[in-house]
Amino acid sequence: LRHFLTTEGLPKELLTEILDTADSFVDMSAQQVKKVPLLRGKTVVNLFFEASTRTLSTFELAAKRLSADVLNLNISTSSTKKGETLKDTLMTMRAMHSDMFVVRHSDSGAAHFIAEQVTPDVAVINAGDGRHAHPTQAMLDMLTIRRHKGQFEGLKVAIVGDILHSRVARSQIHALRILGAEEIRVIAPQTLLPRHIESLGARVYTDMNSGLRDVDVVMMLRLQKERMDSALLPSESEFYKLYGLTRDKLAFAKPDAIVMHPGPINRGVEIESAVADGERSVILDQVTNGIAVRMAVMSMAMSGQLAEKNRAQPDID
Ligand code: CP
Repeated sequence: LRHFLTTEGLPKELLTEILDTADSFVDMSAQQVKKVPLLRGKTVVNLFFEASTRTLSTFELAAKRLSADVLNLNISTSSTKKGETLKDTLMTMRAMHSDMFVVRHSDSGAAHFIAEQVTPDVAVINAGDGRHAHPTQAMLDMLTIRRHKGQFEGLKVAIVGDILHSRVARSQIHALRILGAEEIRVIAPQTLLPRHIESLGARVYTDMNSGLRDVDVVMMLRLQKERMDSALLPSESEFYKLYGLTRDKLAFAKPDAIVMHPGPINRGVEIESAVADGERSVILDQVTNGIAVRMAVMSMAMSGQLAEKNRAQPDID
């Protein structure tokens, strides 16, 4: 069995194969073909130790469309509340002959830890671990960009907001670089920028208007208050004034620039409603594309294609 834990260091061919496979599922859905038997007889367990709307729902739908049996363990009412450890919870779920765990956890590195515990019996898909990675979110974002812009070559992409606490930004930067985007910009106040972000291949801007100038894609991020020290929380009104995406600020991007957001959105904090709901917004396309990307990742992981293409990669075995 195989894992999908990060976009970092993966070959371009593999990411392209995920996108191509996802595209075929989008086309299938457009032709009203809702189900395929690729995971028939397999059991997928969603283990979400953190809140989720989009990721949990689209993983569940994706697994069902692949004909898997799906179990969503409700962590808030599970025996973890009686003191059961993460490892004992994992072993308990593995003992039910699970084939795949989809895992979200607040600790960076949790998905890797879980994969180590359950290899080789269970494939692990990372649905977001701490500030570290959210690889399927990055891949659904890449699919959305490719479907709207056709290719990555020549694209300038700006990622705006709370980069410091964002697992989405890290996974996107890795994926964009691998797929050949021309320029990746991060726009944020100094206090919300990780140290050495330039080493990932991103250009840093602290001013919205210059950072957005002539970009093709504007990716907004939420302030991740749950990961911040409350004493360091920025004022929401001040943040909106300087970094909120308004129609005025969007005018600095290319006229055909698309507006993205992984969700959940905080309207009036990082984005104006008129922009979030405007004609350049592809935010709901991102949600829809999440089903196809998760179908692609789950079917490829289960069939071992990831392993064949990435035998040398530490995160995919
Ligand atoms: N984008 C994202 O991960 O959303 P959820 O937290 O709702 O799953």
